[in-house]
Amino acid sequence: MNSTILIVGASSGIGKETALNFSKNNWKVIACSRNIKKLNDLAKLSIKRNNKNIFTFKLDVTNSNKLSENINKILKKFGTPDIVFLNAGTNNPNTKDIVNYKETKKLFDTNFFGIINCIDIILPKLKNNNNTQLVIMSSVAGYRGLPYAAAYCSSKSALISYAESIYNQCKKVGIRVRVVCPGFVKTPLTDKNEFKMPMIISSEKAGNIIYKKLTNSNDFEIIFPKFFCYLMKFLSYFPNFIYLRVTARLLK
Ligand SMILES: NC(=O)c1ccc[n+]([C@@H]2O[C@H](COP(=O)([O-])OP(=O)(O)OC[C@H]3O[C@@H](n4cnc5c(N)ncnc54)[C@H](OP(=O)(O)O)[C@@H]3O)[C@@H](O)[C@H]2O)c1
Repeated sequence: MNSTILIVGASSGIGKETALNFSKNNWKVIACSRNIKKLNDLAKLSIKRNNKNIFTFKLDVTNSNKLSENINKILKKFGTPDIVFLNAGTNNPNTKDIVNYKETKKLFDTNFFGIINCIDIILPKLKNNNNTQLVIMSSVAGYRGLPYAAAYCSSKSALISYAESIYNQCKKVGIRVRVVCPGFVKTPLTDKNEFKMPMIISSEKAGNIIYKKLTNSNDFEIIFPKFFCYLMKFLSYFPNFIYLRVTARLLK
């Protein structure tokens, strides 16, 4: 076993498939999230495929009192990871109302502050060897605002800005910060969506792409499926008066 990846948010969807891909390729995988049963099922699935290298750990990124203790336990038990993939996230889709403070805060507590809290604790402990990667899961939804997704878009947008802001400071001390901005991927999170999701890909494919990009490329931003993401990026460069007219078409 050569290298270690820590995945926060590994019990389902993209995180789970990323874990399986790293495990298949002989990495030591530390899989964390709240649902220990699902994580242990993931480890069992990996053993069935002849890979005994997924280790599980129960952790809630919103529990700031216990997070530091838990991450320190992980580092003590499994060593310092070569890649930290902060993938935990949630959404509250399908509401027609403008999302209120309470819901927005709840979502930010996981999607943004949960991730920042992990970075806060883990960053000073990473190896400064120019190979260590700190990978933050955002989304194309973070490029610009979209109707009915104010909390989700703004939380993901905040993560992109945060990653861009710390990039050079981390580079200076030998840590590569990267951000993942996928389009639609079929997972329990998107299964809740009641609208048609263009160019959606499977979580297996997403996990495979993330594995390849994290082990074979240096780009700051990782995007997939490419065509959809380029389209969203192109749209994000539109001036407001065009952008807001285009997105008005998404109103129900
Ligand atoms: N699916 C897409 O189309 C898409 C597109 C762009 C970006 N993303 C992002 O990709 C990430 C993974 O989403 P997914 O689509 O794979 O959905 P998912 O299957 O629902 O996975 C979400 C993961 O986050 C974990 N998680 C949620 N709250 C947590 C908490 N408080 N503490 C620790 N872990 C927590 C969940 O585990 P537990 O429930 O066990 O805690 C689960 O492992 C999210 O950040 C999402 O925003 C998804």
